[in-house]
Amino acid sequence: MDKNISFEKGKEELINEIEKRVADKIIERSNADLIIKLINNSDSLSEAINIAQLGTTYKRTGFHFDKRLEKMDNTIKYFKKNQELSFNNSDSALTHKLIIGDNYDALLNLLVEYRNKIDVIYIDPPYGKDSMGEFAETNYDNAITRDNLLSMLYPRLELAKQLLNKDTGVILCSIDDKNQSYVKCLFDEIFGEAGFLFAAPRITKKGGKSTSTIQKNHDYIIAYAMPRNEIIFSMDDMDSSDYNLEDEYVDKRGKYKVTQCLDYDSLSYSQSLDYPIELNGQTLYPGGDYEKYKERKAGKYKKSDWAWRWSKEKFNYGLKKGFIVVKTGRDGKPRIYTKTYLNCSLEKDNTGGFYIKYTDKAGKYYTTLSFMENDCSNDYGKKELDKIFNNSNDLFKNPKPVTLISKLIKMSCSKVDAVVLDFFAGSGTTAQSVLELNKEDNGNRKFILCTNNEITDINPNGIAYDVTSKRLKRIMTGECYDGNKDFDWIKNNEPYGDNLDVYEIEKVANSESTKDKTPFDVIDETLYGKEKFDNIKDKIEWVCNNFEHTQKNIESDEVWHERMGD
Ligand SMILES: C[S@@+](CC[C@H](N)C(=O)[O-])C[C@H]1O[C@@H](n2cnc3c(N)ncnc32)[C@H](O)[C@@H]1O
Repeated sequence: MDKNISFEKGKEELINEIEKRVADKIIERSNADLIIKLINNSDSLSEAINIAQLGTTYKRTGFHFDKRLEKMDNTIKYFKKNQELSFNNSDSALTHKLIIGDNYDALLNLLVEYRNKIDVIYIDPPYGKDSMGEFAETNYDNAITRDNLLSMLYPRLELAKQLLNKDTGVILCSIDDKNQSYVKCLFDEIFGEAGFLFAAPRITKKGGKSTSTIQKNHDYIIAYAMPRNEIIFSMDDMDSSDYNLEDEYVDKRGKYKVTQCLDYDSLSYSQSLDYPIELNGQTLYPGGDYEKYKERKAGKYKKSDWAWRWSKEKFNYGLKKGFIVVKTGRDGKPRIYTKTYLNCSLEKDNTGGFYIKYTDKAGKYYTTLSFMENDCSNDYGKKELDKIFNNSNDLFKNPKPVTLISKLIKMSCSKVDAVVLDFFAGSGTTAQSVLELNKEDNGNRKFILCTNNEITDINPNGIAYDVTSKRLKRIMTGECYDGNKDFDWIKNNEPYGDNLDVYEIEKVANSESTKDKTPFDVIDETLYGKEKFDNIKDKIEWVCNNFEHTQKNIESDEVWHERMGD
């Protein structure tokens, strides 16, 4: 506020500000009235300003970081096929993609062919070195601070959003505990809080050395869908081989098994679950012994003692609905069992009664604890890579396990021809997960991987050449690039088959015209799913629209945000 304005005018402005906040429902009428009274009674403008601040200043929550723009040069980046690393198992097989290079350029290029066409994106970005997580000291020489991490992710996620299928697309991101809250804010910013699906813990390792601080055994997976879309998660498979009995309800309830007795030696005995059951003219007691039952009821029970698993109400409902079976035990005494059906279960309703809950498919729902099973841990990931590289010897630190990523893909997309993208692909686990899922359900999912060729001490040619492409060659064809077949994985596994196109990201100056070649000559349109153009005019138009133009659009904030709003 201008300090030279008159006291009366100043008070009037302050009061207007307060009124505005009442209209905006930021402060209550009664609070505003009190503040206005105090302003009117104040002796000086500075006193009035201080009082007004009671109603006009408030702390906002928000997300801020030092955003750095991606470096752009005057070149067009485009895909060039690496013929030596690409392979073709069969012309009728699926063809997947591995792109070697920075994912910013890769994502821009993918927009040409895949805008709104990607079903699932899984990423596992590097966290950086600066004490930013347990795995920060791994293979990331490109030390990045948190601001850099967020700056790096920001435009990439904006591009990823444009690639995702608008209706059913899901993006999942692995992230450590230190960074997950920041990365989640970034996702909120880009996909909107309405797009948030879950943040689930994922087991990293089971045990660990006991240290003076708490042992950290999990990281996170955060998941977002395109805003406003209700994503229906698929269910996890269930081993149904032991469901081999059927009754008159089989059409609706599916087959059942009878493996659970109604009574058990409960760890925390409860009097209300210890009651007599009258059945077929007999009276049955938990544990089958009337004398012991009497003792318990007389107060002589242990903390852990016999009881039924179901309350009296649930038992009566289950009996009426055919969920109860009586069998004769080895001692000749009757024993009560409950049926477990494939497609339904008994559930409690809101009124305390019970009902039969049907599921449309045999399976169990995923929960946010579904990734805490051992086969989702780093150990598994390492063992899998060891088999492909005959003891990978830290060739790649902490690859994710196949089970983790296949679970994520399967739960978030029921399409068996889904297109799955991972633009921080590292050792290529996402590819193996897609291939494994296709093997399991005869699916036709395709993967697109992108990873830069990070050079490490142990990978002098870079991760993409030393690990990613080699892993894919071995598991898809059953042999190494040099024809060698001496690796453990192939002893117990069939190669997955399918074809792989490997691309490098090349650049050409916008103004290139050397050796009689223009940018239009060097970009091969067939690599973008197009037929070769008959005439150069059409090709020039296509290149301008999809390359220079795309890059300019993305870099210009205004157009960018307009685009985001559509
Ligand atoms: C945490 S690792 C991913 C591991 C992977 N999930 C696996 O199971 O093997 C991240 C990978 O992203 C790569 N990377 C980092 N920055 C990148 C960028 N800008 N473009 C492409 N890849 C990048 C790193 O080289 C590293 O291999």
